[in-house]
Amino acid sequence: TNYECILVETRGEGPRKTGVIRLNRPKALNALSDPLMDELGLALKAFDADPGIGCIVLTGNEKAFAAGADIPTLLQHDFMSAFNSQLISKNWEHILQVRKPVLGAVQGFCLGGGCELAMMCDVLYAADTAKFGQPEIKLGVIPGGGGTQRLPRWVGKSKAMDMLLTGRFMDAAEAERSGLVARVLPADQLMDEVFQAAETINGYSAPVVALMKQLTNQAFEVPLTEGVKIERGMFHAVFGTHDQREGMNAFLEKRPANWKHG
Ligand code: HXC
Repeated sequence: TNYECILVETRGEGPRKTGVIRLNRPKALNALSDPLMDELGLALKAFDADPGIGCIVLTGNEKAFAAGADIPTLLQHDFMSAFNSQLISKNWEHILQVRKPVLGAVQGFCLGGGCELAMMCDVLYAADTAKFGQPEIKLGVIPGGGGTQRLPRWVGKSKAMDMLLTGRFMDAAEAERSGLVARVLPADQLMDEVFQAAETINGYSAPVVALMKQLTNQAFEVPLTEGVKIERGMFHAVFGTHDQREGMNAFLEKRPANWKHG
């Protein structure tokens, strides 16, 4: 497929590869226009449907993951056009339907809608150049891609309020300290490290990886006791797979597991 606002490639050595999606509107710091978000949805869906793909890496370029929604486009809207066109609702949340892990790799600016998109990833890795923020307040608006809801879940209420009300940026060290990112790396090592993490995940049983993602994300949606019950049911269910017996036998026989992904 020919995309105009994103670059798509496949990486990796094993039988299951990594699908890489690069946001690519460098002149606008990867501002997330409608065409870009439409293309992102299509690319995510295609990788998710491809059995040759294990996990997906979503990234930008050295300067920016994304500096937000596209401000000139936002300015064209009034209430009725935003409502009628289902602004944001129509093309921002395809990522939440993806069953494979989506690893976000952030360099440079990750602001507004960019930060909201990053928080829809399953895990974030950051270069030491990363800057996160929800500066909507400076534009006289509030976030519309889940920023007021996801940021407090990722970094806690106090820091989220501080970010949302002042519009200040957070550097990579603070982002790691507060749990927004899993690891911070020197910029020139970021992508290697992320691809390595992706390769590791690609080497595991696909349905187990998908279940792990689903259950972990569910932790933010359901009460604790319910979540644990659902986990327990799924834990029992994995004993019905080939891969459970294979993984445990391989351990005892001190050999690599030969997954059937079922
Ligand atoms: C469209 C953008 C943009 C954006 C930057 N650009 N951010 N275009 N939408 N969100 C464009 C600039 O207009 C400029 O274009 C070029 O990218 C380079 O940006 P500069 O400002 O010249 O770079 P710099 O001085 O380095 O400053 C970087 C920056 C600043 C601090 C990131 O660009 C900035 O504050 N951007 C806006 C960040 C923001 O407010 N994001 C939230 C958007 S609202 P030209 O043509 O002049 O070179 C939002 C709401 C989400 O996201 C709601 C639903 C999801």
